[in-house]
Amino acid sequence: MSFFRSISALSKLRSRVTQQSSLANSVRLLQTQTSSNLDLQSELRELIPEYQERVKKLKTDYGKVELGNITVDMVLGGMRGMTALLWLGSAVDPEEGIRFRGMTIPDCQKLLPGVKPGGEPLPEAILWLLLTGKIPSKEQVDSLSQELQTRATVPDYVFKAIDALPVSAHPMTQFTTGVMALQVQSEFQKQHQSGLAKARYWEPTYEDSMNLIARLPAVAAYVYRRIFKDGKIIPRDESLDYGGNYAHMLGFDDPQMLEFMRLYITIHSDHEGGNVSSHTAHLVSTPLADPYLAFAAALNGLAGPLHGLANQEVLRWIRSVVAEFGTPHISTEELKEYIHKTLNSGQVVPGYGHGVLRKTDPRYTCQREFALKHLPDDPYFQLVSKLKEVVPPILLQLGKVKNPWPNVDAHSGVLLNYYGLTEENYYTVLFGVSRSIGVGPQLIWDRALGLPLERPKSITLEKLEAICEKAA
Ligand SMILES: CC(C)(COP(=O)(O)OP(=O)(O)OC[C@H]1O[C@@H](n2cnc3c(N)ncnc32)[C@H](O)[C@@H]1OP(=O)(O)O)[C@@H](O)C(=O)NCCC(=O)NCCS
Repeated sequence: MSFFRSISALSKLRSRVTQQSSLANSVRLLQTQTSSNLDLQSELRELIPEYQERVKKLKTDYGKVELGNITVDMVLGGMRGMTALLWLGSAVDPEEGIRFRGMTIPDCQKLLPGVKPGGEPLPEAILWLLLTGKIPSKEQVDSLSQELQTRATVPDYVFKAIDALPVSAHPMTQFTTGVMALQVQSEFQKQHQSGLAKARYWEPTYEDSMNLIARLPAVAAYVYRRIFKDGKIIPRDESLDYGGNYAHMLGFDDPQMLEFMRLYITIHSDHEGGNVSSHTAHLVSTPLADPYLAFAAALNGLAGPLHGLANQEVLRWIRSVVAEFGTPHISTEELKEYIHKTLNSGQVVPGYGHGVLRKTDPRYTCQREFALKHLPDDPYFQLVSKLKEVVPPILLQLGKVKNPWPNVDAHSGVLLNYYGLTEENYYTVLFGVSRSIGVGPQLIWDRALGLPLERPKSITLEKLEAICEKAA
């Protein structure tokens, strides 16, 4: 079947899935995409020529097809709504939210292997899906788990680099320092300096991305234990999967917390290409900066309070509400009063709003479902549930907020807090580890598809004014 026929068949199937919203249809759609019995790198090696052909055909036959007009609003509005990036792993629909390679979060929960049947998807499984577009078998996921374990050893100088910082440095600063220190072992940089052919760029990018993903939990756990647990380090448990082992190294062994970590990593892995961290990683990699350099840059964007740091801000804000009233059992009127106080002091309500979404974030919804199942009586969870009713009408009244609904960050903090990970300053590091699983695959595809240096055109204020005057 030709590329365009298969795409049109897939989109017909997909719209049927959306209309009927039935899992049976999803299964039919995805059966064709189930992985063969190859290992991850061999699977990828098989796919690359086909994808290269598809991109080549688009360039040669359809290069002048328009994707939309660029307006002044877009240039002044942070490029909102401007389709300008190729991103394979996922797409965000304003109404429906995220799809990972065409699969919704409930699809992933049903179809991707967990530790046990019916368990939350393993992060290794979403990594496989994002990289290949195929659903891995449990055996493939288990062997990927082992592969990541064999790559997971972190050189000592990484920890020493972190130790050079004051313990009081923000966890994200310590984490990014660790990532920069990991860069010393970049295969891409080494091979490129020895004269690597362009057609092979993706191979050391694969090595670096997989090593980076494999090593991040140990670096991230080191930062946590250094800051909050007197530096008492917990070695990795090789019998555990990626998410389970990360929770274990942080110091959490409650099986429910391990399941939450798997879900957390899965849903935070990717959110199409335009968000600050993903876009930054892609941008920084285009002049052939290696995956470590690109990912460290991405983390610095993630550390902004309007992006990844919002999860920290949410729990801090919820704590401030509880401190104000001396209890998490707060009346609707009191909550309204506090929200107005926040807005009147010129601050945003963290965890609400989104640059693309116009409905409740499905990443919020699946965390809510997890909480309803495991901690329905937790007072902080109940407060978060109440906020979902109280905040949106108030934001709507402002008349300027495009999306008054809760996003992913509105929920994660109370779950982590419930399982004992109470230090909210650390939350963005968890997000960072997860994001590597979305960014890594795209960096590999960027090099496999030979995507060029990113270099959009900018415009001066005078020129913009002149164009507008002429148009008027
Ligand atoms: C996510 C966010 C940065 C998106 O920004 P955006 O695309 O510019 O959003 P909008 O177009 O709806 O913003 C329009 C106005 O509404 C305001 N607004 C948006 N969300 C708001 C919120 N949660 N609380 C108060 N005001 C908000 C914006 O600050 C902006 O105000 P301004 O015109 O005075 O500058 C924004 O919604 C926000 O700051 N949310 C809180 C932080 C957060 O949860 N971030 C995590 C995102 S996953």
